[in-house]
Amino acid sequence: MAIFLTGSTGYLGSYLAAGLFTGHREPLNLLVRAKTQQEARERLWTSLQLHFGFPEFHEFLSTRTRIFLGDLTAERFGLPDDEYRALVDSTDSVIHCAASLNRKSEKQCLNVNLRGTLEVIQLARRAQNRSGLRRYSHVSTVAVAGKRRNEVVTEDAAIDWARSDYDPYARTKKFGEHMLHQLLADVPHTIFRPAIVLGDSRRPETSQFDMVQAFDALVRLPVLPLRPRDKIDIVPANYVSKAIVAIHQKTEPAHRIYHLSSGTGSQTYEELTDALAGAGGWRRPAYWPWMGGTFSSTVNWLSNRKGSVAHGASLLKVFWPYLDWNTVFDNSRVVAELGEAPAKFSTYAFPLLKFSRVNKFRYPAKPWSEIGMDTPEKSAVAGGARA
Ligand SMILES: NC(=O)c1ccc[n+]([C@@H]2O[C@H](COP(=O)([O-])OP(=O)(O)OC[C@H]3O[C@@H](n4cnc5c(N)ncnc54)[C@H](OP(=O)(O)O)[C@@H]3O)[C@@H](O)[C@H]2O)c1
Repeated sequence: MAIFLTGSTGYLGSYLAAGLFTGHREPLNLLVRAKTQQEARERLWTSLQLHFGFPEFHEFLSTRTRIFLGDLTAERFGLPDDEYRALVDSTDSVIHCAASLNRKSEKQCLNVNLRGTLEVIQLARRAQNRSGLRRYSHVSTVAVAGKRRNEVVTEDAAIDWARSDYDPYARTKKFGEHMLHQLLADVPHTIFRPAIVLGDSRRPETSQFDMVQAFDALVRLPVLPLRPRDKIDIVPANYVSKAIVAIHQKTEPAHRIYHLSSGTGSQTYEELTDALAGAGGWRRPAYWPWMGGTFSSTVNWLSNRKGSVAHGASLLKVFWPYLDWNTVFDNSRVVAELGEAPAKFSTYAFPLLKFSRVNKFRYPAKPWSEIGMDTPEKSAVAGGARA
């Protein structure tokens, strides 16, 4: 029986697929948006080459993976009846990682994070009724805690329906958790809430750049409109994925909800800019927190213009509430479960920024056409041998 994983062409989902493949034995049912199996394989190669070379990727595809060509927002993922039935019959646990992170589009967030999550829950219900579901793991976000200021938020105190949210992303992710509790109460389920996921503490490479680019725009400023001793809760992707994979595979995790965060060990802006200045030989910025209001109106104005400045400004605009809230998320549950805390951002921020700048905030993915057809295995994959 297989683990059904959504979002494997995305950043965190690629870590989950790689972690399940290298550390565990179960086959994976992957939902991939593509028209053909070949297109799906190419999309998976783009996301998974961050984790392994072509030989392991080929083994992953050919020995442990079944690809379902579907979309979360279509009824039964838009799968033909026999494919959907095969998915239900072969799934005995679910990790739902896919989402729309488009904080500016209410429509996208509603369609993917609500309608799509409901489709995944319905699939889980059918699998539970058919032969039982071992676990349903749902990747949520700390943003479900809504508007906060100067707080340390625990898992059980995060959801407060009377509180406003910063954006449709946060609102729809909050309701996604609610649907899960209501509709799969009889299925063992776990909710994971990552904080800001930035980079990998083991290496400089990343394939997700939005938050890196917002951070880069900030650290280039000689004057920061922030309070120097405010903390920012950043966690590396390798820690987040290690936690999700380990806890999903446990028979009885201690808790139902986990913050995947740096918690009270989060660093201050001053600690981060000092570390970056030290590593890069840059000047330390000045902190003028009273400029926050002016800064946010300037960012608003710039984000409506054209070009790369506008792009940086529009990223800062959507992330600004999460930079300004001085709120961290208690991580004692996950630290106890894994026996380790996440690496501090200052220990890997500089190589991450350097890699991102050198590559102009794009992952230098090797295209499928560069795999080469010099071995029978490669030809078989490129020619469409079924994974
Ligand atoms: N990154 C962070 O800082 C962060 C922080 C907290 C929580 N999270 C949570 O972590 C999860 C993964 O985020 P991420 O950063 O990895 O995002 P990402 O890189 O944007 O990946 C999103 C994934 O969802 C898939 N998806 C979106 N719409 C879909 C649809 N209609 N049908 C099927 N698949 C669809 C995407 O597929 P395509 O490749 O086809 O678009 C992609 O595989 C999300 O649940 C997010 O809320 C992320």
